[in-house]
Amino acid sequence: METRLRIAPSLLSADFARLGEEVRAVIAAGADLIHFDVMDNHYVPNLTVGPIVCEAIRPHASVPIDVHLMVKPVDALIPMFAKAGASIISFHPEASEHVDRTLQLIRSHGVKAGLVLNPATPLHCLDHVLEQLDLVLLMSVNPGFGGQSFIEHVLPKIEAVRRRIDATGRDIWLEVDGGVKPDNARRIGAAGADTLVAGSAVFGAGHYADAIRRIREEAQAGRAQRAAALEKVSA
Ligand code: DX5
Ligand code: ZN
Repeated sequence: METRLRIAPSLLSADFARLGEEVRAVIAAGADLIHFDVMDNHYVPNLTVGPIVCEAIRPHASVPIDVHLMVKPVDALIPMFAKAGASIISFHPEASEHVDRTLQLIRSHGVKAGLVLNPATPLHCLDHVLEQLDLVLLMSVNPGFGGQSFIEHVLPKIEAVRRRIDATGRDIWLEVDGGVKPDNARRIGAAGADTLVAGSAVFGAGHYADAIRRIREEAQAGRAQRAAALEKVSA
C-alpha cells in the first residue's frame, strides 16, 4: 500500500522563544506533521513541554500535531493532550502498566494512537495490539535528546515492522525518529518507513525547505528502490 511519505519536523530543535513562528515556518517549508516531544525527567532524563505549550502552538499548526510522550505514567496526560489539540498520541509500552487500556483511552478521545519502540524494545510488544494502532514509532536513538546519531541496527527492525504491518492489510503508519538526515533517509525509506521525524536536520539547517525537500527526496528514492525490489520478487 503506497501512502504519501510524511516528514515530521521535531520542535525539540526549534527556537523555543519563537515557537509559533517556527511552527509556521516549518509548515510553509513543507512539513506534513509537527512532532511534539514531551519529556518528564523520569522516564527520560530530559524535561521539555506539556499540554499548555501544545495548546499554544495549535492555532499556528495547520497540519496534525504528532505528540510523542516520553513520560511515565502516561494516562493522566492523555485527556489533557487531546484537549490541547493533539491529532496523534504515541507512548512507550514500558511507561504504561496497561498498554491496551492506554490505547483505548487515546482512541476514546478521537485521537490516533501510536506505540513507540526504543532501539532495544523487542517487537513482541506489538503482539495483540498492532491491529489497534494507527502508528508504530520506531526510535533510532535512545529517547531523551535531539542531535544524537542514527543507530544503524534499527534498519532491519524497520523492515520487520513493515512486514508485520503489511500482513495486517491496514494503513498503519511506520514512523522513524532519531538521527534522521538526508544521508540516511534513503536507507530508512528503503527499509519501509513512511513517516520520518527530523529535528536537528531541519531546524539546524539554514534553509528549512531545502532540508525537508532533501530528506523527502532521499526517502522517496529509497521507497522506490524497495517497491522495485518487491516487484522483482513477485514477478
Ligand atoms: C528524541 C526525540 C526525537 C528527537 C529527534 O528523544 O524523540 O524526536 O527530537 O531529533 P534529531 O532528529 O535531532 O535526532
Ligand atoms: Zn520524538
